[in-house]
Amino acid sequence: MNKHAEAIRSQIIGRLAGGHFCSGEALGQELGISRAAVSGHVKALLALGLDIFSVTGKGYKLASPIELLHSTKIVAYRTQDNTGTLEVLNVIDSTNQYLKDKLAELGNGHACIAEAQTAGRGRHGRTWVSPFGASLYLSMYWSFAGGYQVVGGLSLAVGVAVVSALNKVGVRDVQLKWPNDIYAQGKKLAGVLIEAEGQMGSACECVLGIGLNVALPVNTSGIDQPWINLAQISEGALDRNRLAACLLDELQAALEKFEAFGLQPFLETWRDLDVYRDQHVKLIMGQKVVLGRCRGIDNNGALLLETEGVSRAYHGGEISVRKA
Ligand code: BTN
Repeated sequence: MNKHAEAIRSQIIGRLAGGHFCSGEALGQELGISRAAVSGHVKALLALGLDIFSVTGKGYKLASPIELLHSTKIVAYRTQDNTGTLEVLNVIDSTNQYLKDKLAELGNGHACIAEAQTAGRGRHGRTWVSPFGASLYLSMYWSFAGGYQVVGGLSLAVGVAVVSALNKVGVRDVQLKWPNDIYAQGKKLAGVLIEAEGQMGSACECVLGIGLNVALPVNTSGIDQPWINLAQISEGALDRNRLAACLLDELQAALEKFEAFGLQPFLETWRDLDVYRDQHVKLIMGQKVVLGRCRGIDNNGALLLETEGVSRAYHGGEISVRKA
């Protein structure tokens, strides 16, 4: 998208964000474009997942108001003394990719957050559906001097950080599904994707991405598993800027702690939050399926699965857990 179109669409969103009707004519006059051009931009915004409808004689309206992300608000809400750089983006392919494309320029804690992703990605090559203004899509960079061997279990620590941030804004009753899904009422609320780069013997450079469902439009499609969002489980409206600040604070604090002490300080909390503890599950590892009972995690963060009275540890990113 060219910069001019992007600027016009941002202004249209700004006008509609409050949830009131705006006529095509008034928008056109304000932005110095024709009504037909306004209509073209609105179509493009619909494709980004904005739930805009139009009523003859009244104009355009968002189904629900949106609180847009603002870096000044997020920074003001943050409580960490020493925070990394924050970039607030409008529409991007993927916040993880955005940071990966400029790894050499980044310092620990550098984060970005976007209103929408056009190629948001999840684990195991899945797509992360990322409609505009409906959720939080954020990524943070961290380099671990100890290399690949020190980042085992990192995703579990990040899961604990996400739950901690949710608790801080008053969202309770959320759990963790191994290795790093955040669940509520048996459905997926948030996911974590860690992408790591590094040579043997050198630092491991990680981009940690979090997608948190806040208020997805009811007609959201393309998500291949049961999902839930904060709008269904939190009392009152949640301030996305505050939530983003809380997530960034908890994530940065968790990364500092993980760098100093590894997974150990997170184990007890993770075990308390384990959604499948003692349940019968199946593990899918590529073509291989193992049935068993979940017995928590070992001290390295591997899943313990009991089959015929014997517990075995399962590592690795290709394992997924489903209720049997
Ligand atoms: C999963 O559960 O499969 C992981 C989902 C991770 C989604 C987030 S959204 C922000 C960041 N950018 C991406 O492209 N993916 C992650």
